[in-house]
Order: sequence, then C-alpha cells, then structure tokens
Amino acid sequence: MPVPLVDVRAQYERLIPQILGRFQEVLESGTFILGPNVKAFEEETAAYLGVPQTIGVANGTDALVLVLDALEIGAGDEVICPSFTFYATAEAIMRTGATPVFADIDPVTLNIDPEDVAARVTERTRAIMPVHLFGRPADLEPLTGLGVPLIEDAAQAFGARGIATTGVASTFSFFPTKNLFALGDGGLVAATDEELADRVRLLRFHGSRDKQTFTYVGTNSRLDELQAAVLRLFLGELDGWNRARREAAARYAELGLGEFCELPEDEPGHVYHMYVVRTPERLRLAEALSAAGIANASYYVTPTHLQPALERVTRAEPVILPETERASRENLALPMWAGIPAEVQERVVSVVREASTVGAAS
Ligand SMILES: Cc1ncc(COP(=O)(O)O)c(C=O)c1O
Repeated sequence: MPVPLVDVRAQYERLIPQILGRFQEVLESGTFILGPNVKAFEEETAAYLGVPQTIGVANGTDALVLVLDALEIGAGDEVICPSFTFYATAEAIMRTGATPVFADIDPVTLNIDPEDVAARVTERTRAIMPVHLFGRPADLEPLTGLGVPLIEDAAQAFGARGIATTGVASTFSFFPTKNLFALGDGGLVAATDEELADRVRLLRFHGSRDKQTFTYVGTNSRLDELQAAVLRLFLGELDGWNRARREAAARYAELGLGEFCELPEDEPGHVYHMYVVRTPERLRLAEALSAAGIANASYYVTPTHLQPALERVTRAEPVILPETERASRENLALPMWAGIPAEVQERVVSVVREASTVGAAS
C-alpha cells in the first residue's frame, strides 16, 4: 500500500457525520458570508490563542498582506524574514511594495537566526516576520528588543506553545494539510494590538464597516461560514491531533531513525506540522523511499532568495545565507499526520535503514 506524506482524510474521516451536521445547519440558515460561525470561530480562536481578537480571512497569504497593509508598510520599507520558508512569506512583503531582507536560519531549529536578524536591522526596517517553521515555535524573545514590530507567520503552527502572543499580529493558514485545517482555503489573523485588529477587520472587507462608507483601499478576503463551521469542530480536536503528532515524532526516534539522519530536535511546544530530518544522503534516501511507495518531500529546495521573482531584490546586493542553502539541500520530510499507524512508521524506518546500510557498504 502506498504511504502518503500526509493523510488528511484519515484525520477527519470519523468526523464526517458531524461535519455533515454542521453543513446542514449552515444550509438551513441561508447565511454564508460573515455569519454566526465566523464570529464564534473568531471568539473561540482568540480565547485559544490568548489574544484579544482574531479575524477570519480567505487564506494565509492574504492574512500576511492584510497585516502589512494595516501597518501601512509599503514602498521604501524593509521587512526582515527567513528565506527558508514557503514563498508566500516574502511574496506578501513584495505585494505591498516593500523589500524583503532575508536572514539566515539556525541550523538546529531551522527557524530564523535572531543574531543574523539583529545584524540586518536598518532605519528602513518596519517589521520582522519570523516563521514558526514545520510547527516549531521560533525563538522570539531575542527579537523583542530590536525596536521593530514582530509579525509571526504561524501558518504551519496552530496549537504550538508560546506563539501568537508576542508579535503585534500572527497569521495562520487553514490549507488542508495544516495542523488546524479547513476543507478548502482559509486563514486567520490573530492580533495582540486592538487598533491593528480593527484595521485588518476593515481591510478584509473593502475598508468598510457598514458597506456604505469606504475608508481605506482594502480587499475582499473573508473566511466563509461553511469553512468556519468545520473549523470550529476541528478546533475541538486540535490538541488531541497535535498530541498524536508529538507521539508519532517520539516513535520515529524510538525506532532508531536517528542512527541514519539528524532528527528534528524536540521541544515541548513543537507540533510537527511536518516531520523533517536532515541528511547529506537526502537524494539516496528519497529514492529508496519513493521506490518503496513511501511519499517524501524536500522543502524549499530553491530557497526564496534564489527564486526568479526575487531577482529585483537580490540583484542589487547578493544574498549569502549558508545555513539556508545547506538546509535546502539536506532536508527530507517523512510521512506525518495525526494518527499515522505505528506499522507505517516502522516501514519508513526500515527502508531508511536498508538504504543507509547499502549506501555505507558501497
Ligand atoms: C509559512 C507559510 N506562510 C504562508 C503560507 C500561505 O498560506 P495559504 O496557502 O493559506 O495562502 C503558507 C502556506 O503553506 C506557509 O506555509
């Protein structure tokens, strides 16, 4: 049986009757946009995250752009972010006309390196945008003293401990493979600053409070009722799902995977959105896994600063990020989801073991 990288369906399968019940309620209400489910989901996620307000939006990319727009960041401004992340992080900065300034990552956590960030702050820096990559909370404490607002890109980290309460705002994606996921696209802004939250709320609906007066140039970026209804159900499952992910990560270690590659270092807040190991033998292991029908992936193989869309930014001054480039060559994501069967993990480790032993002998 082929093994997927993420089995989204396995996570929600037993909930299908309840999902259909939630859909039925929305269908009977006849309200599909900014109705009671979105309002309740915003209240419930604010309480869960420990922030005063959240705002449901259409996806995680819009969430980033809306926060930057609400902070009036644009042409002439710089925002520091990692390059070892999904392209949307820097894309959102470029969409506003601002310039992404890339900082290198810490080789152990794969999150932004606070010392490198500090070295890149200039008088043009308007924000720092750390990413809680693969579900591991980035170390924000050293960034708080730099006198620049933090925007946490938490797209991959719903439920991770210690996130969303430090930055002025944090953004989430509910893309179906995420820890908290929708059955389609969805996103959220969580704000610690009430004024900023109010602005994001206006901007997600054309800069208007009442559909009569339009105060800002906003956009149309709303979470819809059907998605919010399901997200409310899934929010109740999230802690259990994240516990199951942590147990699966511990099981990979117990099975001896660490003999053959560098495992992600554990810490209590980590929610393993992806289970990403490192090895200079990445290509050989990936080939052996694929041949055995086990899906695997390497993330950000061309890191953002080397993407064609970034030429405008990097042409002026070459960007050198040694740890980012090493991680882009060495990372390998293995199957991970809430409830991944132990036998599947045993198969993964035995294929890695065999490929490593053959490799060492040849
Ligand atoms: C780190 C990061 N930021 C932003 C996004 C964008 O989210 P969305 O796909 O919902 O627009 C993603 C999505 O994968 C992501 O992983």
